[in-house]
Amino acid sequence: MRKLIAANWKENPRTEARAIALFRATASAARKSGADAAVCPPFIYLERIAGVRRREKKEHVALGAQDVFWEEKGPYTSEVGPKMLRSLGVRYVIIGHSERRRWMHETDEMINKKIRFALADGLRVILCVGERPAVRRKGTAAAKRFVAGQLKEDLKGIRKSDARRVTVAYEPIWAIGSGKHDRPEDAAAIATAIKSFLKKAYHFSPRVLYGGSVDSGNVRDYVQLNAIDGALVGGASLRIREFEKLLKAVK
Ligand code: PGA
Repeated sequence: MRKLIAANWKENPRTEARAIALFRATASAARKSGADAAVCPPFIYLERIAGVRRREKKEHVALGAQDVFWEEKGPYTSEVGPKMLRSLGVRYVIIGHSERRRWMHETDEMINKKIRFALADGLRVILCVGERPAVRRKGTAAAKRFVAGQLKEDLKGIRKSDARRVTVAYEPIWAIGSGKHDRPEDAAAIATAIKSFLKKAYHFSPRVLYGGSVDSGNVRDYVQLNAIDGALVGGASLRIREFEKLLKAVK
């Protein structure tokens, strides 16, 4: 199966013009890559990018959102529902990113609701899990237990038929945006544990991405491992030259 490189732009870039330029550059780099590519811009740029993507035949890059709400419509100021995203051609949605867990106090219960609604409306979910530094200091076995706990809560009650649309991004919190990426063999061991946990619980083996300071210099070390099906990339996806190199590095 082809690897997936998903770009998480977070709250970037600052203008729509830059967002469109970044999307165009990503789309041409993606043509030279052996990987599938997806970009997850802020909500405000999604519609324009969806238009450029369609008109300029750049549909080989999938579109993702960085969040979604669990109601379709109603009195929920500022929220965006799954059907709204689908109407723009959005395929993926990132749910449970550690930055949202931290800054917006998203709980596993909220994440679980978002996942169930997003899946019910046909979106593909990129569920982010990962441990804090204090957990990892106790070793990879402790990290595996922590992540299994998150998966259990976050995926509670999802329908077996929807489960195949879940991708898990393993992102150790201490590696995000820090330049301190995980050792590929440790990340692969945890990815394997994620797959076997979900195989037992839900009878499916998800695609598992690694995320946390992935760049053009280290992406191959991860994606060449069987257990790792791609990467969720933050900072490096905003630097056009760097992201071109990263996409090219994936055969
Ligand atoms: P990073 O972010 O690549 O900047 O570490 C990854 C993420 O938060 O998804």
